[in-house]
Amino acid sequence: MVATTLFWTSLFSLAAASPVLKPRVVQSRSSAPQGFINLGAANSSQTLNLRIALASRNISGLETALLDVSTPSSANYGKHLTKEQVNAYVAPSVEALAAVQSWLSSNNVTAASSGAAGDWLTVTIPVAKANALLAANYQTFQHLDSGKSYARTLSYSLPAEVAPHIDDIHPSTTFNKPASARPVLSVPQASKAVSSSASTAASCATTVTPSCLQSLYNIPTTPATESSNNIAVAGFIDQFAQKSDLKTFLTSFRTDLSSSTTFALQTLDGGENTQNAADAGTEAAQQLDIQYTVGVATNVPITFVSVGEDNQDGDLGGFLDIVNFVSAEDSIPQVMTTSYGDDESDISIPLANKLCNAYMALGARGTSILFASGDGGVAGTRSTSCTVFGPTFPADCPYLTAVGSVHGTSPETASDFSSGGFSNYFGTPAYQSAAVSQYLSLLGDTNKGLFNTSGRGYPDVSAQGENVQIVSGGSTEGVDGTSCSSPIFASVIGLINDQLIAAGKSPLGFLNPWLYANADALNDVTTGSNPGCGTEGFPAKAGWDPVTGLGTPNFTALKAAAGL
Ligand SMILES: *[C@@H]1O[C@H](CO)[C@@H](O)[C@H](O)[C@H]1NC(C)=O
Ligand SMILES: *[C@@H]1O[C@H](CO)[C@@H](O)[C@H](O)[C@H]1NC(C)=O
Ligand SMILES: *[C@@H]1O[C@H](CO)[C@@H](O)[C@H](O)[C@H]1NC(C)=O
Ligand SMILES: *[C@@H]1O[C@H](CO)[C@@H](O)[C@H](O)[C@H]1NC(C)=O
Ligand SMILES: *[C@@H]1O[C@H](CO)[C@@H](O)[C@H](O)[C@H]1NC(C)=O
Repeated sequence: MVATTLFWTSLFSLAAASPVLKPRVVQSRSSAPQGFINLGAANSSQTLNLRIALASRNISGLETALLDVSTPSSANYGKHLTKEQVNAYVAPSVEALAAVQSWLSSNNVTAASSGAAGDWLTVTIPVAKANALLAANYQTFQHLDSGKSYARTLSYSLPAEVAPHIDDIHPSTTFNKPASARPVLSVPQASKAVSSSASTAASCATTVTPSCLQSLYNIPTTPATESSNNIAVAGFIDQFAQKSDLKTFLTSFRTDLSSSTTFALQTLDGGENTQNAADAGTEAAQQLDIQYTVGVATNVPITFVSVGEDNQDGDLGGFLDIVNFVSAEDSIPQVMTTSYGDDESDISIPLANKLCNAYMALGARGTSILFASGDGGVAGTRSTSCTVFGPTFPADCPYLTAVGSVHGTSPETASDFSSGGFSNYFGTPAYQSAAVSQYLSLLGDTNKGLFNTSGRGYPDVSAQGENVQIVSGGSTEGVDGTSCSSPIFASVIGLINDQLIAAGKSPLGFLNPWLYANADALNDVTTGSNPGCGTEGFPAKAGWDPVTGLGTPNFTALKAAAGL
């Protein structure tokens, strides 16, 4: 006892004598990930926009609240939180904010508050100042595939008095790929002729159109009625949604709808939606997302949220900015779908947690967040050789719904590119633990050592994602990817929400506890696998699997599961 007291006393006097405690390293990595090369010290006068993620007051309390309103058996099911209630959990404590601001001002650094709950600070300082402030060594790293260069540091330090109050600082040790290098879609395929018979369920096996999806998944064609309902489609990297292509698409594939049916636009970070054919974007990602929401979720209001490249450093900043942008709104979309992702291992654990918690916060307010699971099978987004499987993020965040891909109709079969597996950052959440352990016991020793058996398993669900017909630049083409599957599943949820709202009920909100409790409402997919890293990947099996999740939507059954 005496020795312990003495130890703390002398530490205290040491601290009192020298006001600056020795900073300690809070984040580090031994090298940049595969695909980046180090070009040497960053220009010391180059400015960095540093985002400081402040520790939230009560994230575990928010998680409890989220599960309470999202679990069908709970008395509070559907009683989503208000913005103020959520912000009370997410905001930093008064002490945290004061400690960090005092540290910054003692270093002559001015910070601006951001984030819906004030849980982010942003500072703009030269590299030399950042190196001194954070005992960092910002260097220029080039991403070889895209040629883009970024300032990153392999480690940084914080003084002990602020370290507990800061979750992470970005950019620092996170090496996410530049947005334009993220594989969104497989290479578009040469278009196959689409006949009017494309309205049968079986025709989805050759060409996927809104009509065949309506037959295959029992999706209603009758127009939704509720104007307060909304599906937000996230757009990045100057991929524009062309209104003229949407009109052509509706004229060809939804002859029962007005061809002038359109979408609303929101922009941030200098985002725009230029209606110039030359700017449509080569990957056609936004034509797809918009055409398979407007064209499937009949008459549900759709908002295209275009995130520009200002303040983003071409990277993960776009994900942070859009979730903060939407969270700041008083009226949030009931569904949000995103077709982009990164390798989990390229992102620091605290930054992945911070972003995942932002999805938790939006889910607690009643938004169903859907992400495409990725198009690299078990290899994730890595093109280079891999020795272990590479989970994709944000798809593997446990507070959102990840959507994989299938093809064919009798039976529907997993697409070989459909990413899925197990997170190394997030543990298996309770809502899926029975489903995951059943799969692991069916799997036996297959892929042993290549994945984390205690991680969050993803995807959660799937939908058609091969030879999906879109109109891009005026012509029809077929595209493949989980980017097709996410907007299709989002449309199903948007239509169920329409009926819930019309009946005076709450929208579905965070879907997973409801989905895993109603697995029978999905069409189980039991064939196919997602090869990668020199393996056959994970095989689809009866029940949940990490290729197709619980399966594809059956609108009739999901509607009944929603109490309609
Ligand atoms: C470093 O950046 C400053 C400010 O952007 C610029 O004026 C200078 O030319 C750069 N130096 C080098 C060596 O690139
Ligand atoms: C965190 O939130 C939970 C759930 O609302 C609550 O029970 C708990 O007291 C809160 N903890 C703190 C430290 O505020
Ligand atoms: C902050 O600015 C003051 C006044 O210009 C200066 O004396 C002090 O050295 C600066 N401190 C730091 C840490 O840069
Ligand atoms: C496996 O996942 C668990 C749960 O998220 C995590 O604690 C552990 O560090 C992971 N193991 C590896 C080797 O990444
Ligand atoms: C969809 O669900 C309905 C109602 O539960 C059921 O009758 C039908 O057979 C299901 N369709 C498929 C393809 O499983």
